[in-house]
Amino acid sequence: MKESYITTAIPYVNGNPHLGHAMDYLLADTLRRYMMSQGQKVRFQAGTDEHGNKIFKKAAEAGISTQEFTDQNSKKFQDFIASLGVEYTDFIRTTNPDHERRCQEIWRRLKDHIYKDSYEGWYCEGCEAFVTDKEHDENSGICPDHKKPYVKLSEENYYLRIADYKDQIREAIETDALKITPAFRKKEFLNLLADMPDVSISRPKSQVSWGVPVPDDDDQVMYVWIDALANYITVLGYPDEDISMDWPAHTQVVGKDILRFHAGIWPTILLGLGLPLPKNLLVHGFITVNGEKMSKSIGNVIAPEEILSKHGLDPFRYYFLRHAPTTDDADFTWEKYEASYNELANDLGNLVQRLATLCKKNEIANLKPLAVDLDDEFKKHMDAYAFNVAFDYAWSKVQDLNRQIDAAKPWELAKTDPAKAKSVLKDIASQLLAVSQMLEIFIPTTAKKIQDVFTAAQILPPSTPLFPRG
Ligand code: MSP
Repeated sequence: MKESYITTAIPYVNGNPHLGHAMDYLLADTLRRYMMSQGQKVRFQAGTDEHGNKIFKKAAEAGISTQEFTDQNSKKFQDFIASLGVEYTDFIRTTNPDHERRCQEIWRRLKDHIYKDSYEGWYCEGCEAFVTDKEHDENSGICPDHKKPYVKLSEENYYLRIADYKDQIREAIETDALKITPAFRKKEFLNLLADMPDVSISRPKSQVSWGVPVPDDDDQVMYVWIDALANYITVLGYPDEDISMDWPAHTQVVGKDILRFHAGIWPTILLGLGLPLPKNLLVHGFITVNGEKMSKSIGNVIAPEEILSKHGLDPFRYYFLRHAPTTDDADFTWEKYEASYNELANDLGNLVQRLATLCKKNEIANLKPLAVDLDDEFKKHMDAYAFNVAFDYAWSKVQDLNRQIDAAKPWELAKTDPAKAKSVLKDIASQLLAVSQMLEIFIPTTAKKIQDVFTAAQILPPSTPLFPRG
């Protein structure tokens, strides 16, 4: 059986995992759980991007070898992913020797699309990137992110000729053969593609020492994007192995800031290698804190662990999957987080407690887990990558169950018509089991608890509420 391959962006290991990284993992994991619920076999990649000067410098600051530094930080990301309840099948590190060797082979195969040129321009040492003259002037010569003046730099680089496949890429995107979601990002990218220049894919060794050596040129190392993007296929074994079981990817999840690399450079590499393009690019927005970009200098960075330790994992997943629109920016504040937790407790926690108590009193037992398929409307939103809308839909069902209990008043019915009370409760509990299958995609631990409660030989309310209050 062919596998559906889902990928996540591989973060740089120069810092700790943050909320932005969580978004990639949660969205990809939501898709994974959904596809698995539909009987598909899923392959799921995650990894870490470990080359470049920033990482080299950070390691030096920490007083340890670069390899040791990346080992430690890559481990932090692996632990972080696990702490989010996200399960991958493959984890790739770009310092892995197999990956490096495979990248060199990929480079060789792309030879016809690569040329050497010298370049002079404005460069930010913090970003490790050149900026255009326009950007330089707009920012009055100072990088807004690093507050450092740009410097004039001239150097020899290898370039990837984007022009070689521009028309083919445009057509694939326009016809949705390579589908970019949301549509406004597709439009945005197509506008950008028209003037997309060739991209530099190497740096002189004298400038960057921590990187994959360019084959047959001792003076150059690959510069981030080739060896970073290649991870999606080297992890599958390319070019040593046949990857057609998994490639093309079903969905590649990326943040909006790296769309252009994934929709422009990556397809150029793939076409250059004679490989098919991925089917979908799911582009998410940015997480802000109190309406501001997270930044160490503003001092508003909230560590995900801090949020996770407050109410545990599912309230975290609930907030970022329901209250963060899948493809737009979203804000985090502690106030909103508490309000969202209260919603969980009031709508779902109370429902479970109340319904289980009533079921116990009326001796309802042996409900069968439902083998029904998910609602069509739910699936429609999931298939369109509107995960938060699908979650809203599932939540409206939860709220509806509360209303059904209020309207039927089974505690009164029990006095006058116990058989009717029993059948009403059975029906509502069965509906809740069906709803739990939708919830399982977003908040799996909670959904599992609900299923355990209502399929038990004797239904008992959970000894501690699902969402206790402080
Ligand atoms: N190393 C590259 C990706 C290479 S993929 C072949 C990179 N790393 S990153 O650490 O800067 O970003 C990793 C992911 O986190 C990207 O998808 C990026 O968009 C996402 N985010 C980083 N900050 C973010 C927010 N504040 N909010 C949401 N996502 C953001 O880019």
